[in-house]
Amino acid sequence: MTSRQCSVVRTGDSTDTLFCREYGQTMHSDSGAYGEAVNMHVLPSGVLDSAAEHLSVLDIGFGLGYNVLALLFESEVRCPEKNIRVVSLERDRGYAPYVRGVSFGDEKDRWHDIIKRAYESGFLREGRFSLDFMFMDARDSVRRLPGGQFDAVFHDPFSPGMNPELWTVDFFRELLPKLKSGARLTTYSSAAQVRAALVAAGFSVARGPSFGRKKEGTIACNGPMTDSINEEYADGAGTAVKATPYRDPGLHCSRDDILSRRLAEMSSRRTTACRQARQE
Ligand SMILES: C[S@@+](CC[C@H](N)C(=O)[O-])C[C@H]1O[C@@H](n2cnc3c(N)ncnc32)[C@H](O)[C@@H]1O
Repeated sequence: MTSRQCSVVRTGDSTDTLFCREYGQTMHSDSGAYGEAVNMHVLPSGVLDSAAEHLSVLDIGFGLGYNVLALLFESEVRCPEKNIRVVSLERDRGYAPYVRGVSFGDEKDRWHDIIKRAYESGFLREGRFSLDFMFMDARDSVRRLPGGQFDAVFHDPFSPGMNPELWTVDFFRELLPKLKSGARLTTYSSAAQVRAALVAAGFSVARGPSFGRKKEGTIACNGPMTDSINEEYADGAGTAVKATPYRDPGLHCSRDDILSRRLAEMSSRRTTACRQARQE
């Protein structure tokens, strides 16, 4: 395990995030790292409003563990009787020194200590919580998950342009059957190509909440949603070129390959659109 070249950055709600050189970006919104976890993932997922006694959450891109922390912390306030099981997918243990260094100076530290212990051993059972890690490429781990398990998915890789392998039609197609019917996936991205990929994979998509300077995220559902905007992103819709999704046949393409496949498909969509316009 090699430690990553990162620097700690203080965000708008006084919680810290990491700037990661490999991706040229921070792990969280500069408006608030912890605030983003609560407001872009835990609350809009609706998972803590569920009537079920046992909840299962899939956390894609563990990072510093803020989404898991926000889930545990908010559950203690909102539904302290529920049993919560989390499966976290993370490829890179090089962030370990930074995970160990996470500190808030308040009661969140007690919860993050539980998460740190789980991170070190790969799993933990503690009272009504259980947390299991799968330390490998999420494209491999998602295939190993049993179907129909999850009440919510926190989808939180780096940005689509820098981390395209987790934003492809093929990845979302593999993911969909792992969700229970009606379960939601939350993400900060509102990119047309991400929404189009979710729609092509069979999700319903709707506009998600905004947080800080980010205008809106996306909520996707394994089942119908009353506020669905699927028709805006269906194949052949007005935004077709921008909405050309990332593809990763076989789920083992390199980042560059995924990006260049999309560019080639965009160029062919543009040519078709020009030809059609000339014929009209
Ligand atoms: C933006 S950070 C996640 C922040 C995190 N959710 C939190 O609450 O602190 C993205 C994470 O996704 C992980 N990641 C990127 N590509 C991955 C892949 N193919 N498989 C598994 N994890 C991946 C990165 O290592 C990084 O930890």
